[in-house]
Parts: sequence; structure tokens; C-alpha cells
Amino acid sequence: MKFELKKVVPWGRNLKEYQEMFNLSNNDLDKNIISFGDGPASFNSELNNLGKKCTSIDLIYQFSETELKERFEVVKKQVMEQVRNNTENFTWNNIKTPDELENLRVKSMSDFLNDFSKGKKEKRYIYHSLPEKLNFKEQTFDLGLSSHFLLLYPKLGIDFHIQSINEMLRLCKEIRIFPILNLNAEKSEMLNDIIKHFGKNYTVNIEKVKYEFQKGGNEMLTLKHKSQ
Ligand SMILES: C[S@@+](CC[C@H](N)C(=O)[O-])C[C@H]1O[C@@H](n2cnc3c(N)ncnc32)[C@H](O)[C@@H]1O
Repeated sequence: MKFELKKVVPWGRNLKEYQEMFNLSNNDLDKNIISFGDGPASFNSELNNLGKKCTSIDLIYQFSETELKERFEVVKKQVMEQVRNNTENFTWNNIKTPDELENLRVKSMSDFLNDFSKGKKEKRYIYHSLPEKLNFKEQTFDLGLSSHFLLLYPKLGIDFHIQSINEMLRLCKEIRIFPILNLNAEKSEMLNDIIKHFGKNYTVNIEKVKYEFQKGGNEMLTLKHKSQ
């Protein structure tokens, strides 16, 4: 099904930010990683340049490079205007100013776009919509990540979240979700239900991380198979 381009918000983070959001150690970076809702993050391209392995999954990979670039220019103006008008909602420790934020997002987008066509051929960027099942066997991946996707959008609903996390846990030995807040920087309304649901069969924890941009957004949720 073709998702409408005008509904897409291509806004991506970089490898350093992923390392801080998910407490990724050098050992973690050597794992077989899959990143869900990875969008135009430059995580995959930067890891690939280091000779490491990452598969990215997103709806937006159905669009062309030109479509995504054009849409990014529209989104950039809208998002940056919102950020500049509401600077008090964010923590400016890691990222110091709105200009620095804009430069970071432009660089991530450009690194992603430069890698997109090659990465699609190498099946590092896969157009896919969760919670649909992916064509990989059980526990193909060591580590699954969700940055600014799950937990952030309450309108996706608890069923979407439970089914998506089920599929992620089928594919991965461990998953990490950041942040655990919603778009208003409040604890995600789905967090407790998810912990309760998966806590029965998996090891579920909340861990502090170094990254904080949304105020109070410095924790990630981790879910592991009990055998890990
Ligand atoms: C805010 S972006 C985050 C991008 C990237 N993870 C980062 O942090 O830089 C959220 C991404 O989730 C993707 N997404 C939304 N619903 C999805 C679904 N059902 N399946 C896969 N990806 C989805 C969007 O297309 C978007 O690229």
C-alpha cells in the first residue's frame, strides 16, 4: 500500500546519537543489528562505512531519493520553526543550539541519501510496515533498536505496539526502545501496559542513558529473551 508522501516526516539522527540513546558499547556495534522505523537516520550508513552490519526497516523506503529530499526540505522548515519557538521544551546540553540541531539533521539526511540506493540493493534498507511479519527467521538479529518510533506516538495504540514488539522479539535476542516518552515529553501512556504484558515472559528493564534532548528523555526500555 502506498503511504502518502505528505504524511511522512523524514527526520533522522546519527551514529553518535544512537550510541548515546541506546548505551551502545563497541561490542554492541559489532553485533548483527536491525533498526525499526530507522527513517533517514545516518546510523546504517555510518556503521556500514565502519564495516559493521545493520538492517534498517521503514515505511519511507518505498519513496525515491528525490521524493524524500523534497519532503525533507518542507519538514525541516516546519520542525525548525516549532523548535525555535519552543526552545524551553528541550535540553540544550548535547546539542547546543537550534542551528546545530538543523545542521546535524541536514548532515544525517545527506549521509542517508548518499547511501540509500546502494543500501537498498544490499538489502540494508527494507521497505516494511510493522507489525507485519518480516521475512527473517527467529532470532536472526542480536539487537533490535527503535529510536523515536515506538512509545512516542500514542495514536498508534497499544495493540499496534504489542504486535510490533512481538515481531521484534521474534527476530531479535534483545530490543532497546528510546525514548520512553510521548511527543509531549510525558511518560508514554503505553509504557506500563507494555512492561506488564512482556514482563511475564521476558526480562524487561528501564535504563538511564547519556542522551537527553526532550526534557526528561534520558531513559530507554530494554526487553530480552530470558535465556540471554
Ligand atoms: C521520528 S522517525 C525516527 C527516525 C529514526 N529512527 C531516528 O531516530 O532518527 C519515525 C520513523 O518511524 C517510521 N514508521 C512509522 N510507522 C511505521 C511502521 N508501521 N513500520 C515501520 N516504520 C514506521 C516513520 O516512517 C519514521 O521514519
